[in-house]
Amino acid sequence: MINLLVEVMMKVSRPLRSKTGVTILMAGLALLTLASWSLQSAEVDPNQLKFPKQFESWQATVEQQESEDMLAHYPASIILWAGSSFAKEYRSPRGHQFAVADVTHTLRTGGAVVKGDKGLSASCWTCKTPDAPRLMKERGIEGYSGANFVDLGREIKSVVYCSDCHVDGSEKLALPRPHAQDAMAKIKQPFDKQDPTMQGAQVCGQCHVTYYFQPEKSNKVNIPWIFGSTADAIEKYYDTRRFYEWIHPISKTPILKARHPEFEHWSRSTHAKKGVTCITCHMPKTNDEQGHAFTDHKVATAMEHFDQVCSSCHGSQAAMVKKLDKTKATIDAKARNLESLLVNAHYEAKAAWDAGATWPQMNDSIMAIRHAQWRWDFAMASHGLYAHNPKEGIELLDKATEQITYGREALARILNHLSVDNVDYPDISSKQSAHAAIGFIEADAVKAKQIFIKEEVDKHWHPVAKTGY
Ligand code: HEC
Ligand code: HEC
Ligand code: HEC
Ligand code: HEC
Repeated sequence: MINLLVEVMMKVSRPLRSKTGVTILMAGLALLTLASWSLQSAEVDPNQLKFPKQFESWQATVEQQESEDMLAHYPASIILWAGSSFAKEYRSPRGHQFAVADVTHTLRTGGAVVKGDKGLSASCWTCKTPDAPRLMKERGIEGYSGANFVDLGREIKSVVYCSDCHVDGSEKLALPRPHAQDAMAKIKQPFDKQDPTMQGAQVCGQCHVTYYFQPEKSNKVNIPWIFGSTADAIEKYYDTRRFYEWIHPISKTPILKARHPEFEHWSRSTHAKKGVTCITCHMPKTNDEQGHAFTDHKVATAMEHFDQVCSSCHGSQAAMVKKLDKTKATIDAKARNLESLLVNAHYEAKAAWDAGATWPQMNDSIMAIRHAQWRWDFAMASHGLYAHNPKEGIELLDKATEQITYGREALARILNHLSVDNVDYPDISSKQSAHAAIGFIEADAVKAKQIFIKEEVDKHWHPVAKTGY
């Protein structure tokens, strides 16, 4: 309420300022009184008083409500992610203000903890909230990551916030997540040694980056960049550690999962070489009503800022939109083709296993499925790939297509050898049919989730877990 009052006062006082000195003084006094009054209340946020423009624009990401059901767009991915929670629900990203509510409500994070089951790691909170680094400090990193996601839910009180990117209360940039500090050191770009331009990209790279939960370290978040940050280098890291996220229930493939490698793809782009970063395109400098420049904290689509940002180096916006649409269509077509090859490979492997194939026979084709699906995922999980680094995206999909073609040729020989002449492929024409193929009943999961929301989240969690719901 007090927050709201301050906001209203600020909005009202703006036009007044341009009238007479008296009204300026009165508005100023009113503001001051309100400010000092609200400072005494626990509710008001000091960052709002100190940096109103940045605060307001940060709040405005709540306007970006749209998000797409990716499983409905690409039902084949349900088969590729069978055996993991990604097959249950997967949506495109939206505004930062929804970060906590969306991870709370997605079917991926399930419901109440089942007795005797360890459940999901609290590490899932790591890239949603400044409460994550706070809890790491309080409990130790493994004390945090070893805890349960639901058990820490009541501790979560904010979405992606000032202190996720700044030394709290100041404009100095910061990298509060230990996994990100480690990762930047691994690629020999330690945060403290970077100029502010690179630091800006690295603050985004805390979260917009691929990671895995380290099983031998209580599921703490780790960024697998020991050998570098390309798909090849990360694959080498996982392969030498014999790491896998889950065993695919259909083909028995030890699966690797990529997560939003936006930082990785950007870092190898022409833009990165020219010093054009995430901040240039998604958080450009803008002017307030008085003509004072400030950084627009409404992190949103880059194309909104075409005139301000892109036009200094590129031609017309219409031409850019056309170019982006064309690149997106090329990438999408390659990805859809590759997905159907991957789905077929999983079922051909199943047919071979069912007919008595052995590991020595299957090793090559199973590794081909693992490696091809990894590259597909490293491309598809990278939001905005078609704009950030289309060249690398296309190379990944082409190489994956080659790998899976090789894998399926090997499978065909095995099937032939075992006299299998029929493979049952699933119906992947819709989300419903693909869910049916893997035996997932969405309605049941939704029902369980609703009970959890009603009994736990509605009663005990901070309202931030409800934004947009
Ligand atoms: C996702 C990261 C991120 C979050 C969250 C964030 N900032 Fe920033 N902020 C930046 C970056 C990056 C810059 C500036 C970069 C530059 O100098 O180019 C910046 C610049 C600033 C500046 C310097 C003046 C200006 O406008 O350029 C202030 C003040 C500031 N932020 C305040 C805040 C406040 C207050 C919040 C919370 C309401 C906040 N920031 C949240 C990343 C963030
Ligand atoms: C603390 C983690 C974190 C940091 C830091 C962070 N993001 Fe995000 N970002 C997220 C999450 C989580 C989402 C998805 C929110 C959702 O869909 O509920 C997201 C969504 C987005 C989106 C999609 C917005 C939309 O409306 O579709 C963009 C663009 C984005 N982030 C860019 C950035 C940039 C640029 C930076 C650095 C200035 C940054 N993010 C820093 C976690 C983070
Ligand atoms: C040259 C400008 C440019 C740079 C640099 C850039 N982006 Fe983007 N980004 C775009 C464009 C263009 C899109 C496509 C959609 C849009 O924003 O218009 C996009 C899309 C995204 C999306 C997906 C949004 C959605 O809702 O699907 C995310 C997330 C994102 N960028 C984050 C980042 C991060 C993090 C970085 C830095 C590591 C970065 N971007 C660097 C221009 C840029
Ligand atoms: C400082 C100059 C600069 C700015 C600012 C800039 N770009 Fe670029 N961009 C380049 C250069 C240089 C290339 C590589 C040559 C080319 O393809 O035109 C490029 C290439 C691209 C490509 C082709 C893909 C690729 O990686 O080769 C896209 C798409 C693109 N830019 C979009 C954008 C958008 C959208 C914005 C604004 C949000 C933007 N750029 C801002 C310099 C810039």
